[in-house]
Amino acid sequence: MTNTLVDPFQRAVNYLRVSVTDRCDFRCVYCMTENMSFLPKKELLSLEELDRMCSAFINLGVKKLRITGGEPLVRRGIMTFFDAMARHLESGALQELTLTTNGSQLSRFAKDLAAAGVKRVNVSLDTLNDEKFARVTRWGRLSQVIKGIDAAQAAGLRIKINAVALRGFNEDELLDLTKWCADRDMDMTWIEVMPMGDMEGIERIGQFWPLGDVRAQLGEHYTLSELSERTGGPARYVRLEETGQKIGFITPLSHNFCESCNRVRLTCTGELYMCLGQEDRAALRDALRENPDDNAPLVAAIRTAIANKPKGHDFDYSRQDGDGQMSRHMSHTGG
Ligand code: 5AD
Ligand code: SF4
Repeated sequence: MTNTLVDPFQRAVNYLRVSVTDRCDFRCVYCMTENMSFLPKKELLSLEELDRMCSAFINLGVKKLRITGGEPLVRRGIMTFFDAMARHLESGALQELTLTTNGSQLSRFAKDLAAAGVKRVNVSLDTLNDEKFARVTRWGRLSQVIKGIDAAQAAGLRIKINAVALRGFNEDELLDLTKWCADRDMDMTWIEVMPMGDMEGIERIGQFWPLGDVRAQLGEHYTLSELSERTGGPARYVRLEETGQKIGFITPLSHNFCESCNRVRLTCTGELYMCLGQEDRAALRDALRENPDDNAPLVAAIRTAIANKPKGHDFDYSRQDGDGQMSRHMSHTGG
């Protein structure tokens, strides 16, 4: 057997997204309810188990690891895990170690992350207005995140800003956000809001703002050139000729990227989701926990899971709870 993971549709799975916690210090309206209940600690993979799990995937050919949450940097001791992954970067087995964060803890961790070999970080930021930021994140403070971004850039980390497109909420900030990112030499990605969980609060904060419209509005002020590059995920990119910035558009509801999908997602409880848009998953934690000294059962479970990776997703089909909504939250699968 080769040490690559190839699914039944001949797609090489070389990208693993790993949620290390379901907890977060924010309560973004499109992501969480105000009083979430979180998992008990014993349900979570321990830091050692996360290491074993990720190392197994890397041995099977995963080249890129993205750490997500919840908010990954609120997981206690998380730097131990980043430091452990650094050995795979040093050996060359792993090509990239990245994370997606809300930025609230970046001022504390930026230097350590850079030292562990992290080069790029995605920071979620929907608005540059203090009051709006507090409204959309419920618990967040904009100044804290800006401080985090400052620290990250000072540590040499390359930052990309992810903004969720919300009509009537950040529509009026399209140009301000673009310019703010350009001035700081940051690329940006717009994400179409996904109908996840119960979406309570979304009506008050804003509505679906189709990215075709975001793009058209940008096109009125900048010269956009289409980039052919794909990263195996749901993003498409343009370059703004005037600033040199790359702007991405993630339309998770469209099906147009499934054929090149190269990724799977591991939850903080050790469940592997083979497709963002489907409920099919493989519980890998038991294979790991029940065999502390033998990786073979885990490797077999991973291979079986990949052999079941579906061809594509169907947000709007009957598999989910009727009206096309996913019943799980992004904080569960880490986006
Ligand atoms: N729709 C779109 N994006 C979402 N995120 C969280 N919930 C949703 C949703 N319902 C985004 C966050 C962050 C990333 C981790 O996922 O804003 O950018
Ligand atoms: Fe936390 Fe990110 Fe969810 Fe906001 S979107 S509540 S920052 S996990």
